[in-house]
Amino acid sequence: MGVRETIFTMDTSSIKYGPGATRELGLDMAALGPRRVMLLSDENLVYGEQVEIARESLKEAGIEFVTFSRVRVEPSDASFRDAIDFAQRGDFDGYVAVGGGSVMDTAKVANLYACWPPDDFLDYVNPPIGRGLPVPGPLKPLIAVPTTAGTGSETTGVSIFDYEALHAKTGIAHRALRPTLGIIDPHNTATLPPMVAACSGLDVLSHAIESLTALPYSQRPAPEHPRERPAYQGANPISDIWAAEALRMVGANLLRAIRDPDDEEARGNMLLAAAAAGIGFGNAGVHLPHGMSYPVSGMVRDFLPDGYRVRHAIVPHGMAVILNAPAVFRFTASANPERHLLAARLLGLDVRGATADDVGEILAQGIIDIMRATGMPNGLQAIGYKESDAPALAEGTLPQHRVTKLSPCPADRDDLIELFRAAMRYW
Ligand SMILES: NC(=O)c1ccc[n+]([C@@H]2O[C@H](COP(=O)([O-])OP(=O)(O)OC[C@H]3O[C@@H](n4cnc5c(N)ncnc54)[C@H](O)[C@@H]3O)[C@@H](O)[C@H]2O)c1
Ligand SMILES: [Fe+2]
Repeated sequence: MGVRETIFTMDTSSIKYGPGATRELGLDMAALGPRRVMLLSDENLVYGEQVEIARESLKEAGIEFVTFSRVRVEPSDASFRDAIDFAQRGDFDGYVAVGGGSVMDTAKVANLYACWPPDDFLDYVNPPIGRGLPVPGPLKPLIAVPTTAGTGSETTGVSIFDYEALHAKTGIAHRALRPTLGIIDPHNTATLPPMVAACSGLDVLSHAIESLTALPYSQRPAPEHPRERPAYQGANPISDIWAAEALRMVGANLLRAIRDPDDEEARGNMLLAAAAAGIGFGNAGVHLPHGMSYPVSGMVRDFLPDGYRVRHAIVPHGMAVILNAPAVFRFTASANPERHLLAARLLGLDVRGATADDVGEILAQGIIDIMRATGMPNGLQAIGYKESDAPALAEGTLPQHRVTKLSPCPADRDDLIELFRAAMRYW
């Protein structure tokens, strides 16, 4: 490797937190300046209380809004184009997203493509699938109101979609995509179906462990120009703080929040954990569990999860991630056992007497226990994959450079095939 990186940056959105904070949306938007906004949600949420409160608040603040509810749960390039088209024709000077990661990610690209229309749809998309062009300038204000806990998308400059031509997820990553403000309101997750609460909560868990164990920024090559420094820079001393606290909160609150939707304290803590993990991984990045999740979601055949109310087959993002996680951490633990031990301890696992040789197994088994307690399927075979799919799944992971490069140890094609085989069944 040539010159190594010596610099890292730390960016996040502004955050407002508290039960009922959604009622302040209109005032917050008015303070940012917009007078006519695009309000994005999905068709399951658009008639619900969260969107109703957002609408009332905008109205009271005298802000004109047009609602767009055709966000696809787990967005695709086609559903992104639909929202972009709506944004380009709507002459909006601000954006509001009320929903989970699917809605927040769609709002980010609608804003980007309406402000700075590219020559080609793939211009901003991560290489090697797209050209990865930097965003030329600032976007319009976007306020994100998460209703899952969650992707942390309210804090990140990342937007993920399924590129249907390749049957793989990819995304757009640039700090300019970050919402201006995230309004985090525990009232908004009270209606989460248990399976959605579980998948999105396990996404938080993996965000935190992956950014804590990611290759440190100082072991990555320096960019040729500061402009090319990626959003995902590797673990650093500030992202570590956020990832560690997120993991501790997930360990203490995930099962409580899923089992008792009336437990507002646990729900609030899971939302804070999601945002904290987002601040961590939004700067440090994630690695193999996420890189491997993109083909697992993209190559889905006919899996329809409980609770998602969708008409198309999906593997929910958090499920696709966590199904790879135990196999990955067994593989990566020897590259930095101290970090894997720290993760296990923060999650609340019993690490007494743990050695560098067994820490990967302790962490993997702890995650498997949580998967069983939250109703996750038993490995990739339970969602329709066979051992013979492992080479194609590995092939779909290889182009995910943005994240696979952050693995604490390199994983080549053969390693990935072995990892997918190991993820087929866990108990
Ligand atoms: N941008 C990022 O940083 C980032 C990070 C992780 C994941 N993602 C992406 O986010 C998407 C997943 O987002 P998600 O896990 O938040 O779920 P989601 O937005 O896909 O929503 C999942 C389901 O839950 C429903 N729902 C959401 N909130 C609800 C509520 N309060 N009550 C009842 N139903 C509710 C939705 O209608 C949908 O059916 C994926 O596309 C994933 O790739 C993005
Ligand atoms: Fe994720």
